[in-house]
Amino acid sequence: MKYMGSKRSMLKNGLGKLLLSESKKHDRFVDLFTGAAFVARYVAENTDRPVLAVDLQKYSTVLAQAVIGRTEQIDSISLKENWIDVAVAHRDKDSLWQKANLHDQNLKKTKKWVLEARELCETKSKVGPLWNAYGGYYFSPTQALTFDYLLANLPEKKQERELCLAACITAASECVAAPGHTAQPFQPTETAKPFIFDAWRRDAVDYAKKNLVELSTHHAQVKGKAITSDAVMQIKYLNSSDLVFIDPPYSGVQYSRFYHVLEIMARGEKKVKVEGVGRYPSIEQRPQSKFSNNGQAKEALKTLLENLAEKKCTVIFTFPSGQASNGLSGNYIKEVASENFKVKDHSTVSGRFSTLGGNNTGREARQDSSELILLMKPK
Ligand SMILES: C[S@@+](CC[C@H](N)C(=O)[O-])C[C@H]1O[C@@H](n2cnc3c(N)ncnc32)[C@H](O)[C@@H]1O
Repeated sequence: MKYMGSKRSMLKNGLGKLLLSESKKHDRFVDLFTGAAFVARYVAENTDRPVLAVDLQKYSTVLAQAVIGRTEQIDSISLKENWIDVAVAHRDKDSLWQKANLHDQNLKKTKKWVLEARELCETKSKVGPLWNAYGGYYFSPTQALTFDYLLANLPEKKQERELCLAACITAASECVAAPGHTAQPFQPTETAKPFIFDAWRRDAVDYAKKNLVELSTHHAQVKGKAITSDAVMQIKYLNSSDLVFIDPPYSGVQYSRFYHVLEIMARGEKKVKVEGVGRYPSIEQRPQSKFSNNGQAKEALKTLLENLAEKKCTVIFTFPSGQASNGLSGNYIKEVASENFKVKDHSTVSGRFSTLGGNNTGREARQDSSELILLMKPK
């Protein structure tokens, strides 16, 4: 999965080594802004420390829980039969499936064909939220219906359900007809049309199978857990034996604006009312973070670090070294942290980072930047 601000590549660039060596000195690893859970999963798989992963968004904790909450592989062959094959059998009997298939077969690379898909997906479906909310936009009618049936037929057993839901969400993120994330679907303009056809050709079942097989082999050494919550709210449960990883938002635009499709999938609701060109659910349904609000981020960061210092936690912090669009900067973080921690500049990693809808220097999707890795020990 592509994720804004993902630390996947940094794990190979020094961050991984630091996490492993520091984890050894602590009883538990806590990832307070877990995102696509690359870091939480990495520590869970490579150390014998339990991992606690926290994020404001439910889909993030689903992605984390699927690996950190399990200590053994799951047999993906029988799971495929009991989940994907059953979902597909139900889907194939749905009259909407016949219509969606017909639309797929009559592929015409025109705007009209896209608009026909939108019209078809206005037909009411009781199976799940994707067909009516996103069919003809983020997904083709066949993809939308398939994901709805996959969601509606998730296994009952907790760990199997968590794994299948994570596989389904990851599959959807790989099929979606949107630039990198789900802020807005591609529109059938001359330039964007080819991207729609390319995304809509992807077989949702193949993507779900691929992700199920891949995820089923990953598991923690020691069972951990993921919690959907504001990071600051969880600090009261931490103590001095915790190693805390902090990778907060660096954009002044809310993550929930970019990942609402995945969030709706994670929540398991059957229906969602959407609006606007991005097909967003109402603002109440999109978690709002102080860390993604230019007027609140500095204060939120201060509170976070003060509370962690009070609990005598050791912290590994990553952040772009320059000025970010939410008002935070590497220098500000070091300054605030130094009040309560001994701060060590562990390293700086160069790379191309997503601007999540633009930053102070322009609106390119990805820009050259460097990320700081700071190690903070309580004073
Ligand atoms: C930069 S991303 C983390 C990326 C992650 N380390 C990875 O490698 O995938 C920041 C994350 O912080 C989450 N977030 C924002 N505000 C939060 C808060 N107050 N409490 C917990 N999580 C929050 C966002 O939902 C987003 O997933």
